[in-house]
Amino acid sequence: MAKKSKKSKPSRSKKKGKGRKSLKEKRRRKRVKTGIKGMDKLIDGGFENKSINLVVGGSGCGKTIFAMQYLMGGLKNGENCLFITFEENKDEFYKNMEEFNWDLKKYEKEGKFHFLEYSPEKVNSMIEEGGGEIENIVVSNNITRIVVDSITSFALLFEDELKKREAALSLFNIIRKWNVTSLLTLQENPSERSSKSSSLEFESDGIVLIYFTREKKKRERFIEILKMRGTNHSTNIHEVNLSGKLGFTVTNKTHSEGFKGN
Ligand SMILES: Nc1ncnc2c1ncn2[C@@H]1O[C@H](COP(=O)(O)OP(=O)(O)O)[C@@H](O)[C@H]1O
Ligand SMILES: [Mg+2]
Repeated sequence: MAKKSKKSKPSRSKKKGKGRKSLKEKRRRKRVKTGIKGMDKLIDGGFENKSINLVVGGSGCGKTIFAMQYLMGGLKNGENCLFITFEENKDEFYKNMEEFNWDLKKYEKEGKFHFLEYSPEKVNSMIEEGGGEIENIVVSNNITRIVVDSITSFALLFEDELKKREAALSLFNIIRKWNVTSLLTLQENPSERSSKSSSLEFESDGIVLIYFTREKKKRERFIEILKMRGTNHSTNIHEVNLSGKLGFTVTNKTHSEGFKGN
């Protein structure tokens, strides 16, 4: 008897240890690379798989480019991606993205990239239908990455905070149902953040802030991870570069002292 229990003890603890390890391993593996050089190491390897993330910044900070670069990361990885926009004209957008050597026409022809110019009202009716046309596109094309640019226009449809929150919840529930990893842009100066968008921020899994600040006589871009559920993320303010050659790149420089983000 004693022999038996001696034998079984180590094997049980071995199993237990293995179980714990694999759970950790599982969590670590479930990461979606952002496609932004230098960014993944700030957020434990990438966005959590199937998470909903917000990228928040003022006008011209680069939210749209950031979001498209995230989809390009997916396209280069053989994934199918969907860009839903309330703001951009397709031809102009494709042309602008050529600046970064992103050949969206090619990916579209291959059936890998889908671009939808939608009105916020149309998205609202999609929610009321429980998925509608967008869901068909997502399911039939096996879409894994989605961008909504920008959620601000959608939020503006609703006057009071409660309705906004309900709509955000419905939209988020639908996106979650699709099993995609999504990025929604939000137009708001990070240093003047108001309570207006708090419901969106509350419902999202991750929040990335992009600052476009004036430093002496020139503007510079910085990035901050404000929130990333289940992630031991950087708490520094990182300098980012935006160039036609590389798109967004997070540099090794951090900005910590006296940063107001204005
Ligand atoms: N080729 C480029 N090289 C460097 N910066 C660029 C390039 N193209 C655009 N930008 C910068 O990106 C800005 C537009 O970014 P965009 O993503 O549209 O901003 P947002 O969506 O936040 O309003 C431009 O105003 C410019 O500062
Ligand atoms: Mg934009």
